[in-house]
Amino acid sequence: MKEKILVVDDNSDLRELAQTILRMQNYEVILAKDGKEALEIFDRTSPDLVVSDIAMPKMDGFAFLRAVRSREKGNAVPFLFLSAYSQTGNLSQARRLAVDDYLFKPFDAQELLDAVRIRLDRRQAVQLFDTREAHLQTVLLMANIIEARDPYTRGHIDRVCNIALRFGKQLGWDEASLSVLEFGAILHDIGKLVVPTNILTKKGSFTPKEWEIVYKHPEKGVEMLNGIDHLKPAIPFILYHHERWNGSGYPFGLKGEEIPLAGRVLALADFYDAVSSDRPYHKGQSKEVTLKMIKENSHILFDPFLVSNFFEIADEL
Ligand SMILES: [Fe+2]
Repeated sequence: MKEKILVVDDNSDLRELAQTILRMQNYEVILAKDGKEALEIFDRTSPDLVVSDIAMPKMDGFAFLRAVRSREKGNAVPFLFLSAYSQTGNLSQARRLAVDDYLFKPFDAQELLDAVRIRLDRRQAVQLFDTREAHLQTVLLMANIIEARDPYTRGHIDRVCNIALRFGKQLGWDEASLSVLEFGAILHDIGKLVVPTNILTKKGSFTPKEWEIVYKHPEKGVEMLNGIDHLKPAIPFILYHHERWNGSGYPFGLKGEEIPLAGRVLALADFYDAVSSDRPYHKGQSKEVTLKMIKENSHILFDPFLVSNFFEIADEL
């Protein structure tokens, strides 16, 4: 889809010059001859960027910028002033109104195109960051719900997430994979929402019937993500984090490399925190004891290649 640029100037030659230059770069251009007309067009068309003159009849550039910034959809739209040198005295006012850039007349084509491209790219980068943050915060909300029901594991999700991220970096995972790992780690126990609180907080060992319910939490977690497409990449972390290298895990009893890597990685981070922190049924073990247990269970419960890598981050745990 073409990016939409609103050009505002009372000088028709300048307006058309800007339009010609911008159209050559495949932008959609909308023209307005003063601030008042521009504001109506802004509300109707939601442009991606505005280039505006300052001195104009009816409504000048400052009043127009102020009106744009007061609108919800206008407070982040890149706004560039096009001004004559004689108006530089006004630039401090422009800055106060959060103008993004200003070009002096007469401008050359490349100068205009560069200023527009830089601002549009920066806006896109910010939007992408905002979307990712919003996404992560929604995921954190779910994590908070899980922990609210299970006070004994408070902080567990956060710690597992930090350990898993360090581990992922040690394994050389790229940014995109680390990002999936992050929300996978946050959501790994979401299926525990179906496990009754009296089981979650039980001090003694589970009865066979209670185990049956606990065994189901990975699959229940996956069911909960049904229809939420952007969370689907988290599924391997949720579904396989209780599988064990020798096939003794659940829910499927997969063995060795049959277990997706996501599950084998998270299993180590989850085990490390579960053993080293206080739980209703045990006191947390020291770091040394926990690492010793992991080492002893290399080839048994855990992927030996991953265990040796896990020891590389031992100092940071
Ligand atoms: Fe779990």
